Amino acid sequence: MLNTTEVNPGLEGVVAADTRLSSVDGQHGELLIAGFPVETLAPKASFEETVYLLWHDTLPDIDRLAAFRHELQAARALPPATLELLHAAAMESIPPMDALRMAAGTLSLPAPGLVVSDAQATANAVVARFPTIIAAYWRLLHGDPLVDPDPQLDHAANFLYMLTGEIPHPERTRGLETYLNTVVDHGLNASTFTARVIIATGSDLVSAITGAIGALKGPLHGGAPGPALDMVFEIGEVASIDRVLRQKLATGERLMGFGHRVYRVRDPRADVLAVAAEHMYQAAGDMQLYTLAKAVEERAVALLAEHKPGRNLQTNVEFYTALLLHGLDLPTELFTPTFAISRVVGWIAHCFEQQALHRIIRPQSIYHGPRDRQWVPLTER
Ligand code: COA
Repeated sequence: MLNTTEVNPGLEGVVAADTRLSSVDGQHGELLIAGFPVETLAPKASFEETVYLLWHDTLPDIDRLAAFRHELQAARALPPATLELLHAAAMESIPPMDALRMAAGTLSLPAPGLVVSDAQATANAVVARFPTIIAAYWRLLHGDPLVDPDPQLDHAANFLYMLTGEIPHPERTRGLETYLNTVVDHGLNASTFTARVIIATGSDLVSAITGAIGALKGPLHGGAPGPALDMVFEIGEVASIDRVLRQKLATGERLMGFGHRVYRVRDPRADVLAVAAEHMYQAAGDMQLYTLAKAVEERAVALLAEHKPGRNLQTNVEFYTALLLHGLDLPTELFTPTFAISRVVGWIAHCFEQQALHRIIRPQSIYHGPRDRQWVPLTER
């Protein structure tokens, strides 16, 4: 029987879904994605393989993978109204996450040459178009001509190509794919829960992913990597680490990239991304930022232990996300939109799971407002 006198505002420990998509073990620091440890899957799979795995619960064979790649490639073009909206947003210098949210809502419109016949085709179109929206918007913001998608390139490489106009080195594509695979799904995080709540009302996929983008944007969820990198830049040198971090903690600031609602040990995704980031900086021949970040991480964990004894606040995924994406030359403003390119796949998979349940999500609240108010007519107030 539900105890309606107890309030749990953060829903900690509340189990609201069965899922086959990912398993987050916060005590042991283990993440499974569709049965694979993240350390195994993320550095090996192409992003298309991960999407297929998550949606179909099996790895594709060569033919299925080729067909799926083709379906995504064919769905990349944007509806004309989406581009018009992005132009208008760029004129107002709207932040990229807000532009993505606005543009995502237009994905209910048909795009030229593509018949979106069912939910799966809608899912493909949404995933295929997120990179197009983000790359196009970034270029519009900077007054650069748009770069059309390249049908020869896969999802991750094509995103980098549309952003820069240059075909990326395979090592960079691998770095981005490792990142996209790492963050594709993560239990009932805030944006995924948002998507499930929306779709559970009987609403549609585009509405669900649009709402989820709003949840992802917040600095306590997907908005942390930008500030995490800013913090490393602000520190600037090893000698300043303790002074800056202590000052932040003393003024009640949270150290971005540390702490997690579920993990009570180090976030396993941090290690996967740390390795990928190290490769990226080694290949570029400049380890300065990586070395500084490692030192910041070590001191941050130690100072957080002093600050919140017994809580074991550890490095989370966002710290190394920031380093890796910066190593890929992605601008800070695109860190969270790039997260969305990946996580939209998880949102959609969760929406499909939730739809199969045919059950609205409806928790309760306890009323603490007044009960004996007297109505005063407007002219007497
Ligand atoms: N820096 C400083 N203090 C932190 C902290 C951080 N990164 N993370 C948690 N704390 C503090 C909290 O303020 C809280 O203090 P209080 O008890 O005095 O209020 C205490 O540690 C326990 O917090 P906890 O319950 O573990 O956090 P949460 O579950 O409410 O929040 C996060 C989890 C992720 C929102 C939180 O750790 C945070 O804000 N981290 C920084 C943002 C970030 O990196 N987000 C990306 C997550 S993947």
